[in-house]
Amino acid sequence: MAKRILVTGGTGYIGSHTVVELQNSGYEVVIIDNLSNSNIDIVDSIEKVSGIRPAFERIDCLDYPALDALFTKYTNIEAIIHFAASKAVGESVEKPLLYYRNNLVSLINLLELMPKYAIKGIVFSSSCTVYGQPDELPVTEKAPIKKAESPYGNTKQINEEIIQDTIKSGAPIQAILLRYFNPIGAHPTALLGELPNGVPQNLVPYLTQTAIGIREKLSVFGDDYNTPDGSCIRDFINVVDLAKAHVVAIDRILENKQKEKVEVFNIGTGRGLSVLELIHAFEAATGVKLSYQIVGRRAGDIEQVWADPEYANKELDWKAETSIEETLRSAWEWQLKLRERGIQ
Ligand code: UD1
Repeated sequence: MAKRILVTGGTGYIGSHTVVELQNSGYEVVIIDNLSNSNIDIVDSIEKVSGIRPAFERIDCLDYPALDALFTKYTNIEAIIHFAASKAVGESVEKPLLYYRNNLVSLINLLELMPKYAIKGIVFSSSCTVYGQPDELPVTEKAPIKKAESPYGNTKQINEEIIQDTIKSGAPIQAILLRYFNPIGAHPTALLGELPNGVPQNLVPYLTQTAIGIREKLSVFGDDYNTPDGSCIRDFINVVDLAKAHVVAIDRILENKQKEKVEVFNIGTGRGLSVLELIHAFEAATGVKLSYQIVGRRAGDIEQVWADPEYANKELDWKAETSIEETLRSAWEWQLKLRERGIQ
């Protein structure tokens, strides 16, 4: 019988790609999502891509009784991948309590219920934001955690600690914390991708919306950083590669391969690319000319960060494989598809 996995936030950007990869690997998926930043149609898209319709329940992870009822309805859930969270850095500065309540209480609810229903493990969506500006690059999992720049970043740090402390206290659960670098791109079928609400805050959605004419110009936030071309450097990872890391993390928990009850992995490519390099790579990969301007720095931005993914490569037997050109083409195909569908 297929092993059953609960994916919270499973209709979101990374969640939906992960559901497909779990299904491709033979897992049965139950999605819960409050649809605050996604759409019920994504369930149809997932079915189109994988050929399997995942179970879906509209549930908010803040709703403890609803979660309790869910675990009674869907028995034998073996593990959870917890994506559901608020993720806009700027908004978190404006509405800190919303972010702290949503992101912390959702996780606490899940951790409280896991022992009751004998759910073995949880994979948590963490972020390279926990490293702040690292002292050494590429950054390894051993690098110190720096004070968070935003309430959003702080929720990632606190949630990592909540998991560590809960397991240290003897809770009969295991965890893998995946620290994502910058996920970009879309599914090669162009049926799944990132659908930002309103004006995109992240680089690639803004870039593709500019390329298609929804936005006039892409602003590059700063060209006076201490980097070769003066723009910030990031480790841009293909979203399908990232999704696959979750499948191997789940395999590892369920096959008892963990070396410790809580493990942490960097999920990146190991390659740093500057914002300007990314723009040029997009133009080269798609043949589309991009209108952009250099503007001042954005508050709170880290100058440069990229992963040392060695530990994940070795221990998880996982590697980011998709080229940046292919990834940027997929983001462009997705944007074209959105226009075709009259969405954006
Ligand atoms: C941020 C968060 C990260 C979070 C991610 C997703 C921090 C330090 N990082 O990543 O934790 O997971 O958002 O929400 O909090 N840029 C432009 N023009 C734009 C947009 C972005 O030049 O219009 C530049 C930024 O200055 C940055 C790079 O592109 O140097 C990437 O920005 P973005 O896509 O927003 O991601 P991060 O800030 O790296």
